Amino acid sequence: MGGQRLYDRWSRNLPALRAMYALVFLGRGSTFRRRSVAALDVDRGERVLELGCGPGNSFGRLREAVGHEGVVVGVDYSEGMVRRARNRVDERGWENVHVVRADATRPGIAPGTFDAAYAAMSLSAMPDPEAAVGAAAAALREDGRFTVLDARPFQPLPLSLLNPLVVPLFARLTDWDHETDVPGAIRERFESATVRGDNAGTIYVASGSGPRC
Ligand SMILES: C[S@@+](CC[C@H](N)C(=O)[O-])C[C@H]1O[C@@H](n2cnc3c(N)ncnc32)[C@H](O)[C@@H]1O
Repeated sequence: MGGQRLYDRWSRNLPALRAMYALVFLGRGSTFRRRSVAALDVDRGERVLELGCGPGNSFGRLREAVGHEGVVVGVDYSEGMVRRARNRVDERGWENVHVVRADATRPGIAPGTFDAAYAAMSLSAMPDPEAAVGAAAAALREDGRFTVLDARPFQPLPLSLLNPLVVPLFARLTDWDHETDVPGAIRERFESATVRGDNAGTIYVASGSGPRC
C-alpha cells in the first residue's frame, strides 16, 4: 500500500504516527518544528502555504506567526488527513486557516499567491519531491521563502551502517523517498538557500528565498 491510502490509514491512527515522529526526532520534535517555522521568517499578515499538511500539526505555529490578519492554507492529498486537519481547524475556530485536498506537486495555485511556503516531514513522502519544490517556488511571490523540515538517512559513520535496516523500514511505513536531494532542489529553484542538519544528520531544515521561476 502507498500514497494516499497509506496516509488515509495513518489518519486513523494518529497516536502511532506521533510515536513514530518521536522516534525519528529523538524526542526533539517541538524543537525542530519551532526552529523550522522560525526559519520561514514569517511576518504578521502574511499568506503561508503548507504542502502535505497532514492532520495540521504545524497549523498552530504557522497561525501564531501570521497572526489573525494573515492566512494559512494547508494542502494534502489524503482524504483522511484532510478530514483530521479540518476537524482541528473547526475545533479551534481558526477562521484564517484553510485546508485544501490536492496533490502538492501540482496544486493549481496561481503564481505569486503566497509570501511563504512550508513542508514538514512531507516532501520525502511525495512521489516527486522535486516537483513539490517547483510547485512551492511557483506559488511564491518574488521574494518569497520556502522551508522544509524533513528526515534523511544517517550521514556519518558508524551510524550510517544502520541505514540498510532503517531505510527500508521507514520507506515501507511512510513512503519515504530518501534518495531525492531536496536541499539540492531548493538550491536550484531559489536564489539563496541554507541547510542545517541535526540528530546525526537525520533531521534537516532547508530554506530557500527568492524563487527562480
Ligand atoms: C508524514 S506526514 C506529515 C504530516 C505533517 N506535515 C506533519 O508535519 O505532521 C506526510 C503527509 O504528506 C502527505 N502527502 C504525501 N504526498 C503528497 C502529495 N503528493 N500531495 C499532497 N500531500 C501529500 C500525506 O498525505 C501526509 O499527510
